[in-house]
Amino acid sequence: MKTRTIIEGATCVLVPLILEDQPVSISSASVFYNPEMELNRDLSVAAIAAFSEIMASRKNLNISDITYVDAFSASGIRGLRIAKEVGLTVTLNDWSKEAYELMKINTKLNSLKDKVNICLENANLLLHKNKYHIVDIDPFGSPTIYLDAASTSAISMLAVTATDTAPLCGAHLNSGIRKYGAVPLNVEYHSEMGLRILLGRIARDLARHEKSMYPLFSHATRHYLRVYLEVQKGVNKSDNCLKNLGFISHCKKCFSRSVHYGLAVHIPEKCKICGHNNNVAGPLWLGNLHDKDFCDSVLMQLSDRELGKKEQAMKIVRLCKNELDVPTFYDQHVLSKKLGISAIPMENLLKELETNGFKASRTHFSGTSFKTNAEIEEILDTLRRFR
Ligand SMILES: C[S@@+](CC[C@H](N)C(=O)[O-])C[C@H]1O[C@@H](n2cnc3c(N)ncnc32)[C@H](O)[C@@H]1O
Ligand SMILES: [Zn+2]
Repeated sequence: MKTRTIIEGATCVLVPLILEDQPVSISSASVFYNPEMELNRDLSVAAIAAFSEIMASRKNLNISDITYVDAFSASGIRGLRIAKEVGLTVTLNDWSKEAYELMKINTKLNSLKDKVNICLENANLLLHKNKYHIVDIDPFGSPTIYLDAASTSAISMLAVTATDTAPLCGAHLNSGIRKYGAVPLNVEYHSEMGLRILLGRIARDLARHEKSMYPLFSHATRHYLRVYLEVQKGVNKSDNCLKNLGFISHCKKCFSRSVHYGLAVHIPEKCKICGHNNNVAGPLWLGNLHDKDFCDSVLMQLSDRELGKKEQAMKIVRLCKNELDVPTFYDQHVLSKKLGISAIPMENLLKELETNGFKASRTHFSGTSFKTNAEIEEILDTLRRFR
C-alpha cells in the first residue's frame, strides 16, 4: 500500500495515498481515511478531553486510568489522537488486516506503544467481551447493529457517529423503520428529527442493559450525525431516561407541530390548528440535545488547542450551547415563501419574537432556521409584521 503522511492536531499518521486520477475512492481504499472528518475528530478530542477531566475529578482518577475504545479505527487516527492529545489509555480495533498493520505502524510513529492496545476483531465481539469507560463507534453508515454491544461495553460515555442520514431523515422511509424501529418524516427539520431518532434508538439499546443516557453534546453536520452521551447504570435512571421518548405530530398544511411523550400514547389524528391530517414521527428522543456547562467545557478545550478546524468547531459548539431546548425548528425561508414575503435578517426576527414574550434562538442545524416556543400562528403573525 502506498501511503502519505498527514498531521491532525498533534498527531501524525500514515494513510493510503489516493491520487486524483486513480479509480479508487475514499471508501474503496484498502484502509479508510476521510480528510472531511477532521472536524468531527477535532470536536471528539475536545469533547472527550472535557468529559475525561470531569470524570477524573469526580472519581479521583488519573487521566491515564480512563479507558477509551475506538472500535472502528481504520488508520487509527481517531484513537491515536485521543491517546496523544488527551492522554487516555486507548484500544484501537478494526477487522481489516491491512488496517491492523497500519495501526501498528502509526502507533509506533507517535511513540504510543505504552498507551495503546491494538486489536483485530469484529467490533461486536470486542465490545461484548470488554468494558471501557468511553466507547466510540464510527462505522460505515448505520451504527445500529453495533449499539447492543456498545451499550453493554460503555461504563461512562458513549460517542456515536451515524452517516446513514437518508434513512434517519425520512428520505428512505422503510430503511429507517428497519434500522431504527422508528418512523421519520421528511420535513424541513429532518436533520433534527434524524438526530432525535438516533438518540431514541440508543436510549432503548442502553435500557436493555439497565443503563441510562444523558446527552452532553449532539450535532448534525453535513452528511453525518454525532452524539456524546454520559452513561449511567441503574434501573430507575434507565426508566426515567425512557420517559424522554415520544412522538412528534406535524401538519404539512399549516406547519404546526406537537410533541407527545410516551410509547403507548394517544396522538390526535387532526391538526389542532387547521384540522388537516397530522403526520406522525417516532418514537424519538424529546429530551435535551446538549448540556450548556458541558458545551462551555468543550469550548475551553477547543480554545486551548491548536486544531485544523478550530474555528468551525467552535462555531458549532457555540450554536449548540445557545440553542433553545425544543424538539423542532422552523426554516424562515419555508415560512416566508408560504406568506409570499421576503426573508428578514435572523437577528430582527429573533428580537421581535422575544419582544412579544417568546423565547427564540438560532440553531446549528441550518443558518436560515430558528427555534422558538411560539406556536406557528404567532410566528406567522410576527413575520407578517415585517411585510
Ligand atoms: C468509517 S471507517 C472508520 C474511520 C475512523 N474511525 C476515522 O476516524 O478515520 C470504518 C472502519 O470500520 C471497519 N469495520 C467495519 N465493520 C467492522 C466490524 N464489524 N468490526 C470491526 N471493524 C469493522 C472497516 O474496516 C473500516 O476501517
Ligand atoms: Zn394544520
